[in-house]
Amino acid sequence: MKFIRSHLGIKLFFSYFAVIVVGMAVVALTTGVVTPRAYARHLFYMEQELGSGMGMGQGHGQGGMMSDFYANFQATFNESLLIAVLAASATALIVSFFFSQRILGPVNVMKVASRRIAEGHFDERIRSEGEDELSQMAGSFNRMAEQLEQIENMRRRLIGDVAHELRTPLTAIKGSAEGLIDGVLPATVETFQQIHAESERLSRLVDDLQELSRVESGAIQLDVHPVDLTAAIQTVGGRMRHLFNEKRIALTLNLPGVPTLVSADEDRLIQVLTNLMGNALRYTPVGGKVTVTAAAEKAHALISIRDTGIGIPQDQVARIFERFYRVDKSRARAGGGSGIGLTIAMHLVEAHGGRIWAESPGDNKGSVFLFTLPLAG
Ligand SMILES: Nc1ncnc2c1ncn2[C@@H]1O[C@H](COP(=O)(O)OP(=O)(O)OP(=O)(O)O)[C@@H](O)[C@H]1O
Ligand SMILES: [Mg+2]
Repeated sequence: MKFIRSHLGIKLFFSYFAVIVVGMAVVALTTGVVTPRAYARHLFYMEQELGSGMGMGQGHGQGGMMSDFYANFQATFNESLLIAVLAASATALIVSFFFSQRILGPVNVMKVASRRIAEGHFDERIRSEGEDELSQMAGSFNRMAEQLEQIENMRRRLIGDVAHELRTPLTAIKGSAEGLIDGVLPATVETFQQIHAESERLSRLVDDLQELSRVESGAIQLDVHPVDLTAAIQTVGGRMRHLFNEKRIALTLNLPGVPTLVSADEDRLIQVLTNLMGNALRYTPVGGKVTVTAAAEKAHALISIRDTGIGIPQDQVARIFERFYRVDKSRARAGGGSGIGLTIAMHLVEAHGGRIWAESPGDNKGSVFLFTLPLAG
């Protein structure tokens, strides 16, 4: 029984066989019931038509002859039925073998391929020919394998990137601590401040990573309601103004005179604005200019943050939203950036149903970051 249950070919054969047996049983049963009656009726009509003349001479043998005739017919019928059963069973055997090979061939290939994928060979693919459901299944299987491979590659890259990012502040902390132990570094406030600054960087990075994993997995819950865009930008401007003043960068807010309501989570909107304005501040040299503009368009509001800073090379504009991507790694690291801010901002804007992009005429020609948010109501 277990053997039958685990073999599709045998199940298929038995299903064909069951149809044959039922068919033949029905034929045998109906002929067993119907034929004698049909014979009796036939005999009755024959007797009536031939009249008594026939009955005189051969009357004694007529009943016997007819039952002989019937028995003969029954035997011939049974023989034909047996031959039909054998022929149908042989056909069922051949057809079920053929079909099970057609079905089981690709299924077995898929079984082996999925086992290899489970073992970590994500480059495994299967051939899909034809257009039937099995070929479609093979196509879906390959697409699934491709996505698994991409996820696996992303995971590997992410672990590599995270390890790399964590190593820098850790090396600095370890170096300072060793210097203190060996007496190479003086135990001054500056040394401890340096260690503290590196630990701060480390914990900020860990916080950013946690936030990134949350936004990337879609685990953040947006508390969307009508938010006044002008007020939100003014809040961020107010909080950051002293930083702009410190770096002698002119911050201009170009906002609509009337309240502009957008459908957004206020805290998240403030987070995106802080990220973009923080970047403008970080990547604009002393004496530069940053302008934040907001305007209502047809169905959405358009917000732009324009700076006169270091700009972004044309070929890299599209890549800066990738996680850990920095235009100039050494320069960005010196400034404390880890390349996560824009990725978080992008996920947040997209979660609101908006779009975010950057434009820059090139190196040292400034850049502008734009994003849209749906208007409320
Ligand atoms: N306003 C800008 N002007 C020029 N380059 C920019 C600007 N904003 C971002 N970039 C480039 O894009 C890269 C990615 O920005 P992102 O905000 O994601 O990371 P970051 O600022 O380096 O670090 P953090 O994760 O702390 O924000 C930056 O490293 C920088 O090279
Ligand atoms: Mg940033």
